[in-house]
Amino acid sequence: MNNSGPSTLQTAFCGLKFNSPIVLLSGCVGFGEEYTRVSGFSNRDAGAVCLKGTTLEPRLGNQPHRVYETPDGMLNAIGLQNPGVDHVINEILPSLDFTETRFIANVSGSTVEEYFEVTRRFDDSPIDAIEINISCPNVKQGGVAFGNDPAMSARVVEACRKATRKPLITKLSPNQTDIAANAKGCIEAGSDAFAVINTLMGMAIDIDSRTPLIGNNQGGLSGPAIKPVALLKVHQVYQVCRDHNIPIIGQGGIASAEDALEFMIAGASAVGVGTALFYDPLICKTINTGIMRYMERHKLQSVDQLVGTLQLNQQPTAKCGC
Ligand SMILES: Cc1cc2nc3c(=O)[nH]c(=O)nc-3n(C[C@H](O)[C@H](O)[C@H](O)COP(=O)(O)O)c2cc1C
Repeated sequence: MNNSGPSTLQTAFCGLKFNSPIVLLSGCVGFGEEYTRVSGFSNRDAGAVCLKGTTLEPRLGNQPHRVYETPDGMLNAIGLQNPGVDHVINEILPSLDFTETRFIANVSGSTVEEYFEVTRRFDDSPIDAIEINISCPNVKQGGVAFGNDPAMSARVVEACRKATRKPLITKLSPNQTDIAANAKGCIEAGSDAFAVINTLMGMAIDIDSRTPLIGNNQGGLSGPAIKPVALLKVHQVYQVCRDHNIPIIGQGGIASAEDALEFMIAGASAVGVGTALFYDPLICKTINTGIMRYMERHKLQSVDQLVGTLQLNQQPTAKCGC
């Protein structure tokens, strides 16, 4: 693994040139402008920025409260609030600086037809890649209902594949029995890459009123609390991606360079940062610096040399930890 020569954070993901393996995650950066007013923040610190989940028609989202802080994480149930695909394409994309970073659309829908149509419209736009969100736990129809059913997941991917030749990234749900089997079906249906994982379903209760603290009753748990779950899911999905050269954007609780490195060693070619941005909008600089130091210390030229280098312990792995 040792090489000579300068280290670089640059990497290629589905043929797209990334400045860094970091991807700013959907729902945590609005439509690419969210943190640009924060002094010192730059989209250039990320390899790509994933836009907020977008549907065919505008959506107002769920009733409040939409977010709730938990130990080492947060619950959210935004309900895919967005201005609709045409507004995103006509009003927002022209305002984004495509010289800074790559922009990825995040497509959602209530029907297979809606996923197809939103993807088709993004195909005819400057967007660099399209992420299919079949794992949103905060909407009544579509979302995780599709993502937890392998046959439905494949149907959505197949439909979106017909709508675009741009890189297609399928965002997988952790709220399902066999994430690797689902990934396999999505590869056969035409997925070029995966985002692993979306939020885990959770709940918080006000003990005085005995009511849920989230307006939607339940929400998606994100942040450092979910990192161990996310790492295992990346490891599992990597087992089916490795032979097909399908890259993964690993995500779930990444808040340091060490976290990002763990995800790459487990099999992620790029690493997503979401919840951590809410309390440290400049965290990408810290993570980039830390990854660079690690690469120099280990004499690595490229982060690609780290991907999937996990060496498992030799004893058989029990399926449960009891
Ligand atoms: C407030 C909020 C909104 C989100 N909205 C979306 C969304 O619109 N589409 C999507 O695919 N994921 C969405 N996510 C999930 C994140 O993109 C990410 O997959 C997840 O939070 C795990 O990463 P993290 O622990 O670094 O936040 C959202 C997460 C949060 C916290």
